[in-house]
Amino acid sequence: MDGSLKNALFSCALLLLCFSTTGRAASCSSYSFSNNKVYSTCTDLSVLNSFLYWSYDPSAGTADIAFRVTGVSTSNWVAWAINPTGSGMLGAQALVAFQNSSGAMHAYTSSVQSYATTLSSSSLSFSVSSLSAEMSGSQMMIFATVQLPDNKTSVNQVWQVGPVSSDSPQAHAQSGDNLKSAGSVNFLSGVVVSSGGAGSRQRKKNVHGVLNAVSWGTLMPIGVMIARYMKVFKAADPAWFYLHITCQTSAYIVGVAGWATGLKLGSDSHGIVYHAHRNIGISLFCLATLQVFALLLRPKKDHKYRFYWNVYHHSIGYTVIVLSIVNIFKGLDILTLPRSGRGHTLASLYF
Ligand SMILES: *[C@@H]1O[C@H](CO)[C@@H](O)[C@H](O)[C@H]1NC(C)=O
Ligand SMILES: *[C@@H]1O[C@H](CO)[C@@H](O)[C@H](O)[C@H]1NC(C)=O
Repeated sequence: MDGSLKNALFSCALLLLCFSTTGRAASCSSYSFSNNKVYSTCTDLSVLNSFLYWSYDPSAGTADIAFRVTGVSTSNWVAWAINPTGSGMLGAQALVAFQNSSGAMHAYTSSVQSYATTLSSSSLSFSVSSLSAEMSGSQMMIFATVQLPDNKTSVNQVWQVGPVSSDSPQAHAQSGDNLKSAGSVNFLSGVVVSSGGAGSRQRKKNVHGVLNAVSWGTLMPIGVMIARYMKVFKAADPAWFYLHITCQTSAYIVGVAGWATGLKLGSDSHGIVYHAHRNIGISLFCLATLQVFALLLRPKKDHKYRFYWNVYHHSIGYTVIVLSIVNIFKGLDILTLPRSGRGHTLASLYF
């Protein structure tokens, strides 16, 4: 019994390692720009549903960038800035965009000199060319080529989203993620550091991932293996049953916690819905709940309906396992992994 449990744990660990080493892309890379522009690197910024894409030209010291924000409307402005002299808003050399009353996307530059800025148009301390903006559904994008100040490869960046009223940007929210949207970006290595360490959203995603990998990805399959392989040994009777129940009940409790963190993540990310991942997650929760409650309705061993109950219990059980694996893959697709060492991130999360 010890041996089979060990084997089961080992296979699960191997399985997870396989998942993780297939190397999943950050979600920024799954987006294709309508103008067919392709950038060599991209990163999911830590907060405000924002993404940065760029191609760095070392000989010219320029970066061709695209800044994309999802979940915004025509009454929002978006901005991305390099701050050559500081790390926050003051001194930020910003690219700003919003849709003005003519219906056109207005893209311009603004050098931020005070917290009371109205983001009026002004020139920057470095040159910017090919500046344009685009709105597509609930996404806003700013495109530009920037001459990196002092030919630096690593710069401090700030990004922001706020409301627009009569063609004029208004102050952004003074709380939560709007105060965490800063950090640094290295255009050469691709390393992006958020000023608040890992973004709070990224942390929530990791917690969600770990809880679900432990529950649906590990405990539940082990519970199934216990039932499937230990039942045959007379000596393991009723021990396998209690082990199975313990395993599945703990899996269910951890799974519900993981599921709840997923719902919270979903409700927090305005404008982004991972339909398949969410729907499979909801189905899994329903099926697993059904399994737990079906236990209470289990007919006695020699009851004439027991056969049908077994068929039902096994088919739902295997469906849950298959769906869980599919959903862990879908989740890994969504999980933002840094470009360097992507493959090891889940493994290190997990172990
Ligand atoms: C910028 O730096 C790169 C590498 O450090 C160098 O090759 C390039 O010549 C520099 N360009 C300018 C315009 O100074
Ligand atoms: C709106 O933006 C476009 C593009 O930048 C600009 O040409 C136009 O003058 C702007 N209209 C108003 C009313 O600001």
